[in-house]
Amino acid sequence: MSITVAKTAGFCFGVNRAVNLVYELLNEGKRVVTLGPIIHNPQLVEELERRGVRIVKHPEEAPAGSTVVIRSHGVPAQVLRRVEEAGVACADATCPFVAKIHRIVARESADGRLVLIAGDKNHPEVEGIRGHCAGVSFVFKNAGELEQLAISMSTEEKKRVSIVAQTTFSLNEWRNCIKSAKKVYTNAKIFDTICSATSRRQNEAEELSSRSDLMVIIGGRQSSNTAKLRDVCAANCDTILVETAGELPREPIRKAKSIGVTAGASTPASIIKEVLFAMSEILNNEPEKELEQTPEVK
Ligand code: F3S
Repeated sequence: MSITVAKTAGFCFGVNRAVNLVYELLNEGKRVVTLGPIIHNPQLVEELERRGVRIVKHPEEAPAGSTVVIRSHGVPAQVLRRVEEAGVACADATCPFVAKIHRIVARESADGRLVLIAGDKNHPEVEGIRGHCAGVSFVFKNAGELEQLAISMSTEEKKRVSIVAQTTFSLNEWRNCIKSAKKVYTNAKIFDTICSATSRRQNEAEELSSRSDLMVIIGGRQSSNTAKLRDVCAANCDTILVETAGELPREPIRKAKSIGVTAGASTPASIIKEVLFAMSEILNNEPEKELEQTPEVK
């Protein structure tokens, strides 16, 4: 029986930076407000709320004297203006990989090109990217939808297309999209904007799941990059997604001969440790009652 933990499991550079920024502000005694939960991890968000961090939807809801933190997903340009107008301090934790996409789409759309974005149209990162386009933008989630979009465009429009991807888009689907784009759009400008943290995580998950009986993915159910890791692994072996150690199912873990473990880019190291500890307890046949408690991690 073996358990292999992916080297890339857990916080990526951008999430780490955003979370550290919030802690730094709290340590400086600032009143911290985040525009939406700072990361897609309910346990860490609850911990921050206990320390006084308040979550708001709109900049106008931020109390006077507070500091508004922009999370790593970034926000539309208009929201940045509204934070300024609200007269509160702003700490921008937009991930540099996302900020780079903002600059690309702003420039391309200002040049009169149509921006096509591979991603989930309801994801805050994609909403933020669209909010940096000077003109029209479209979102597609796979190669089929990209080809469909071409049908609705004039020949002239098809010649002025620039394509980017949400940073956490699926690598495999992106490869399919590039093939389709070359087929249906003349002179499409394609910008490979999936971030390196996502590529490394998905590649490692692919490799690890291809030699495991069972993959355990640790991460928030609202986390886009965690969902992509689950999809990559599910194509190769049985895969379960858990948010906390308490959700681990016993039977599949006891039966598996080789288990791979990875975690989304917004999963804190403490939760990964708890899950690994609980897995070893299950494998050591600890009594049911004790396992139901979340183990204390040192
Ligand atoms: Fe940034 Fe990529 Fe993480 S865009 S927030 S490094 S998943």
